[in-house]
Amino acid sequence: MGLQKDFLWGGATAANQVEGGYDQGGRGLANVDLLPFGKDREAVMAGELPMLSFDKDHYYPAQKGIDMYHHYKEDIALFAEMGFKVYRFSIAWTRIFPLGDEAKPNEEGLLFYEQLIDECLKYDIKPLVTICHFDCPIHLVKEYGGWKNRKMIDFYLHYAETLFERFKGKVYHWITFNEINMLLHAPFMAAGLVFEEGEDREQVKFTAAHYELVASALATKRGKEIDDKNLIGCMLAAGDNYPNTPNPEDIMAAKLVDRESFFFTDVQVRGYYPAYALKELARKNIQLDITEEDKQILQQNTVDYLTFSYYSSSVASGDPKVNELREGNLFPTLKNPYLDASEWGWQIDPLGLRITMNTLYDRYQCPLFIVENGLGAVDVKAENGVVEDDYRIDYLGKHMKEMIAAVELDGVELLGYTSWGCIDLVSASTGEMKKRYGFIYVDAENEGQGTFKRSKKRSFEWYRQVIESNGDCL
Ligand code: BG6
Repeated sequence: MGLQKDFLWGGATAANQVEGGYDQGGRGLANVDLLPFGKDREAVMAGELPMLSFDKDHYYPAQKGIDMYHHYKEDIALFAEMGFKVYRFSIAWTRIFPLGDEAKPNEEGLLFYEQLIDECLKYDIKPLVTICHFDCPIHLVKEYGGWKNRKMIDFYLHYAETLFERFKGKVYHWITFNEINMLLHAPFMAAGLVFEEGEDREQVKFTAAHYELVASALATKRGKEIDDKNLIGCMLAAGDNYPNTPNPEDIMAAKLVDRESFFFTDVQVRGYYPAYALKELARKNIQLDITEEDKQILQQNTVDYLTFSYYSSSVASGDPKVNELREGNLFPTLKNPYLDASEWGWQIDPLGLRITMNTLYDRYQCPLFIVENGLGAVDVKAENGVVEDDYRIDYLGKHMKEMIAAVELDGVELLGYTSWGCIDLVSASTGEMKKRYGFIYVDAENEGQGTFKRSKKRSFEWYRQVIESNGDCL
């Protein structure tokens, strides 16, 4: 019993939240570099406030990240000390193609990731590469409108092929797009979409979604042609929506909110647009540019596995007045009276992870991989200089127990688990450093102050033991 012997334990990060070095190694600018810290961030992420170059009134956290661009060897050595079997990271598109529409890649960028990958392999850590973690070269935003434009499919495919070719024989686990459903919630952050006045936003978002889905399917095809040992997956920001009461209106409402996410994975795992999506698009009078060839591409190139992030469940009501009480910056939810919440108001629901795993496995019957889960918290060093993060150990331990229950009791097929922010990093939604997730503390503050020195938190040794015992010590 327990998890399979080759279960992939590890941690996850994203380029723009850790690397820094935004103007080094020939790197170009991306949408994610231009997300400011502070009050305007939400409007910029939503595509409501165009920010296509830096201004002097804002601080931009991605410029420094946690300076992993210069610390990656030290960081990977620490991951190896915890016993990581896998490290999920993303490649910054603009290190490889600084503008996005060049024919030839930037060798310096490829070399950086080659060295990073070799460093992982030195410790027998498998690299799990996210090809696109929210980033879109800013040149593509300015010249082509980002994912509003069908041409993005070719630019993305050329980028993905370049990675498959260059890292052949070194990387076998790939994710095409991080949290593809985030496009609907933070369209500039997730897909470089900026809305023009009078533009039909729903039309724009679903057009971009279609192009990303086709690009994802084509990358899956090319990735497998280049090396049939490649495993190529999609990724969903997951977490079941619960009905607020047993009132059938609430049950239906929760189902409808769930569909906003399943819309994407239904296409990526099953290979076609589900009936409910076609009906909904027609009702909203959204015309999608879906060609016969697109349909075939989607049908023939479904993913090998489904990866997902899980932080919380949500609650929805069928009563619009009650739903007005929903809160939360990216995925609004009603308060669940049965759950505690993090300092950022994210409701803590370990059993929800088991429920979500069952929902996904029942729906798709394909292998799952949890590629993000973790607790964002304010960490304060104790007198001994160590962060005694028992609250994080508690959060992660409870979630891992439910994950194991889903495997042992429900028979869910699960390939691995990478905790989010295995090292402290910049928060995607708020831009803060203060919202820390790591087993490794990084001495950096919200506006880039600090030494960037790394130190182990109490959870570091705890996770080492979890991995060593393959979860049996939980
Ligand atoms: C996911 C993203 O949405 O959640 C990550 O893939 C992000 O990039 C993570 O960091 C946690 O969210 P936040 O806002 O706390 O950083």
